[in-house]
Amino acid sequence: MPKKDDAGIAAMRAGAGASWGVEKPVNETTKAEGVPGEASEKASEKASEVASDPGRAFAGTLGRTARRPAGEAAAEACIQAGEGDVWLNHRTRIEHMLKPTRFVHSLHVADASVTMGRIFGGDLVKLAIAGLLHDGAKELSDERYLALGGVFGLITDPAERATPSLLHGPVAAWLAKCDWGVDDPIILQSIRLHTTGGPEMSKEACIVFMADLIEPGRKYRGVKVLRQLCREDLRAAMIEAVAQTLVLIARDKRPLHSGMLRCQEWLYDGRGTAWKTWKARN
Ligand SMILES: [Fe+2]
Ligand SMILES: [Fe+2]
Repeated sequence: MPKKDDAGIAAMRAGAGASWGVEKPVNETTKAEGVPGEASEKASEKASEVASDPGRAFAGTLGRTARRPAGEAAAEACIQAGEGDVWLNHRTRIEHMLKPTRFVHSLHVADASVTMGRIFGGDLVKLAIAGLLHDGAKELSDERYLALGGVFGLITDPAERATPSLLHGPVAAWLAKCDWGVDDPIILQSIRLHTTGGPEMSKEACIVFMADLIEPGRKYRGVKVLRQLCREDLRAAMIEAVAQTLVLIARDKRPLHSGMLRCQEWLYDGRGTAWKTWKARN
């Protein structure tokens, strides 16, 4: 007799829980190119290599359109931890709050967060839930961000008044705590800091920050190098991501959020002592 968790996963895979994942087409860019026979031979060699290395198989899902339905990897991690109901409740809420493309982005961020959690460590359920909820306030208006930010003391930097959408992370974390029943500080920090970053981020917050930038739907110059780093070195990935963002902010003459600067200082900290202490703790 299968365990309850196994039965849940089996039902999900069989499509009984269609609401667990969003079916989407395989990305054409993942197809092998060149002479057909040669390509399929190379593909099967690669598949057997990947199959013999589970870590590589997980890493391989970063940066390409996963062949699994969006959200399935995150749902599976939650079910295996006995938290499938928590995932489904939040998933249903987010599905009704966000437009379809942003909902799929949120599922991809949850999946990428879980994938990176398997590489770098971290609580997979917290990663899945934080990834799912990180953009939960993204569709509010600038007026609403400023109103909520003002009333609930969420505005911490002048850049947030100039660019109110910078508040979508802090507002989502506030909604998660006050309205969606999330009280875990690591999940709340991951949601709050997913745009600006900050000093003393938890491992989960770093992972969600990066997963938001490299999920399969992201297409921009610089994403390839970030995806590669997200398979190998979380700190290097954070440093590169912050550097890329600072260049864009300078180019667009946008006000800089002090959280990002403090995040950069924390990542470097002279000889990297802050990161070493963080690594020892995490
Ligand atoms: Fe966001
Ligand atoms: Fe996002």
